[in-house]
Amino acid sequence: MHKLAIQGGNRLNGEVRISGAKNAALPILCASLLTRESLRLDNVPELNDVGTMRKLLQQMGVKIEQSGGQVVLSAANIDKLEAPYDMVKTMRAAILVLGPLVTRFGEALVSLPGGCAIGSRPVDLHIRGLQAMGAEIHIEHGYIHARAKRLKGTRIFFDLVSVTGTENLMMAAVLADGVTVLENAAREPEVVDLAQCLIAMGARIEGAGSDTISITGVEKLHGASHRIMPDRIESGTFLVAATAAGGDITLTDARADILDNVLEKLHEAGAVIQVAGSTINLKMNRRPRAVNLRTAPYPAFPTDMQAQFMAMNTMAEGTAMVVETIFENRFMHVQELRRLGAQIDIEGNTAVIKGCAQLEGATIMATDLRASACLVIAGLVAQGETVVDRIYHLDRGYEHIEAKLSALGARIRRMK
Ligand code: EPZ
Repeated sequence: MHKLAIQGGNRLNGEVRISGAKNAALPILCASLLTRESLRLDNVPELNDVGTMRKLLQQMGVKIEQSGGQVVLSAANIDKLEAPYDMVKTMRAAILVLGPLVTRFGEALVSLPGGCAIGSRPVDLHIRGLQAMGAEIHIEHGYIHARAKRLKGTRIFFDLVSVTGTENLMMAAVLADGVTVLENAAREPEVVDLAQCLIAMGARIEGAGSDTISITGVEKLHGASHRIMPDRIESGTFLVAATAAGGDITLTDARADILDNVLEKLHEAGAVIQVAGSTINLKMNRRPRAVNLRTAPYPAFPTDMQAQFMAMNTMAEGTAMVVETIFENRFMHVQELRRLGAQIDIEGNTAVIKGCAQLEGATIMATDLRASACLVIAGLVAQGETVVDRIYHLDRGYEHIEAKLSALGARIRRMK
């Protein structure tokens, strides 16, 4: 089990390049299943989840060549229409092969993802959407078995905003017969990035980024090239770390236009932010002010940034209220922060954090991806040494995080 040992107290200074977005790369890798021609991707981040997705596609017969951040995929000879449990259980995003397999091959056998640390995470909206398009679906022995001669376009209303639900059904619709309209669709930038890749492959999609997406099915898609968008959550994570620790950092290859809500909250905390093209500079020379948060679907405050801001709030000036409206159990980091001396009370989906002047280093344990990032930020500001255990969670979603933080002046090292 890998751990990270962090000596707190250093400010963060310097430049950090933002990697490609995990939550755009994962659906876009699955889009390769929609054509027999090659899909050429750039800026694909080197993450454990991306590695798992690559293995999942290869065991289906997708040919994949990779050099650095460039990945070329070709699904000319798919000989297995299955996503087995042992791969799906470690990465729920594997559910994203369902739509492409059913719409191109007429059949799929995908393991139910099961829950995870932050919530039960059902996939009923994915299944109901495919059934509405004419797929016959049986759930047996923990697997989703879907079949369809040819999916038919229809109107689908999401009674909950679902990011991968929107992505799965958008991919299912690109080869369906007729027009599909997704209503109450997710507006996340990663949905837009997927739509742009699909359009480059010949799909006909309008409205991606709004809550109503219209897809007109075509006979087949062709190969294309696409560069994965920058990771807005990695960007936000580094900006919060510098706001908590103090310093002067510049993100490169970043996009500020998809971080409005996060930048607004950092400004409220007292950070000075300057944006110039694809760089974001943040200066922080004071103790942060506590900021209230309420997570909600994009463009509201992202749930994937909630834990990171909570780390900052534990040592901010004042008291903050954090309301988590997306997942039912996304406060796993609170217990661990309390071990560092944080003063946090939880009432249902609301946490009240009373900022204290100083956290004390201790040994703590990561429980999920963004909670791990939260604990690393807390370690950067705690007095003395903090050891974060089970950081395999962190490696799922952050490319070389300790190298990037060390380059900014953090005292952090990986221990076996
Ligand atoms: C995506 O997960 C992201 N993952 C998550 O990022 C992110 O936290 C989440 O969207 C919300 O923004 C990827 O894109 C790979 P949802 P997803 O479907 O699509 C309920 C990270 O840290 N729901 O938008 O699985 C669900 O339980 C990860 O990078 C249903 O009830 O989330 C949740 O309460 C964590 N039925 C809410 O909707 C369904 O069929 C939103 O979930 C689907 C979802």
